[in-house]
Amino acid sequence: ADERSMLKDKIRRLLKQREAVLVAHYYVDADLQDLAEETGGCVSDSLEMARFGRDHPAKTLVVAGVRFMGETAKILSPEKRILMPDLDATCSLDLGCPADEFAQFCDQHPDRTVVVYANTSAAVKARADWMVTSSIGLDIVAHLHAQGKKILWAPDRHLGSYIQKKTGADMLLWQGSCLVHDEFKGIELDLLKADYPAAKVLVHPESPANVVALADVVGSTTQLIDAARSMDATTFIVATDNGILHKMRLAAPGKHFIEAPTAGNSATCKSCAHCPWMAMNGLRNLADVLENMNNEVFVEPNIGKQAVRSIDRMLDFAA
Ligand code: 13P
Ligand code: SF4
Repeated sequence: ADERSMLKDKIRRLLKQREAVLVAHYYVDADLQDLAEETGGCVSDSLEMARFGRDHPAKTLVVAGVRFMGETAKILSPEKRILMPDLDATCSLDLGCPADEFAQFCDQHPDRTVVVYANTSAAVKARADWMVTSSIGLDIVAHLHAQGKKILWAPDRHLGSYIQKKTGADMLLWQGSCLVHDEFKGIELDLLKADYPAAKVLVHPESPANVVALADVVGSTTQLIDAARSMDATTFIVATDNGILHKMRLAAPGKHFIEAPTAGNSATCKSCAHCPWMAMNGLRNLADVLENMNNEVFVEPNIGKQAVRSIDRMLDFAA
């Protein structure tokens, strides 16, 4: 605990000294989330992280999350210095959608509007017409569908098929998945629900269809936290990375949160639902990057110029 508070003090001091601002995702270490909030940074979902980073006047942003979040910040603000505690923090969706294969897929379907999830590389975003996050993907695809557009969607197949079902849009899906959300089990969730008949079920749409089917609320991390706060229930079953529970407990004190089962029985698998790449962000490496000002995120400027169009479309739509 002593090392922890020393590191936290050091981070507070260095953030000021470097005139840097900390932007954190809800899945990272609770201490990092608290520091971001306390020091005037932000803790939020991918959409808000992007918007906050773009609008904040600081010249240096430290992004505690995964690689695509740092890249998105850099694409939106090429003049800013973007640092990350660990540059190897990636995402199975990003890894599962290599830019060259994706470009071939797009070339084979030139009649389709290309919509990609935020969890992709800068090069994949550069090939897209639109980038979306989980909080707004449904609305954007509904909008494109209403214009009669056919969609090519990548990379998350679960989010893609959820949006497809909801909107009825013609969507061709890349077959990627999130290694965390893919592990949630529908049958076990159904059994757990029977044990807690009054509980509401909160599900991130990267989860498999049979898990989404049992949800009371499907949404981005921010939307799930809002639901926990505002819904008239005292118990919630949560199917997303368990890093989110910290904020849910703060946002809804006195309410009870249960992790959705990942493998057979949630009691035997306490920490399955935690992203190994989000977990690479800690107090120690955050303090180190602030001290050394290393681990800077770079995006090839030409790719950045292409990619920013797909991100700006989403931000304009959201505005
Ligand atoms: P949100 O945009 O909902 O925060 O999701 C990001 C993510 O990586 C989910 O796994
Ligand atoms: Fe990617 Fe899943 Fe980790 Fe989110 S939780 S960063 S989608 S691997």
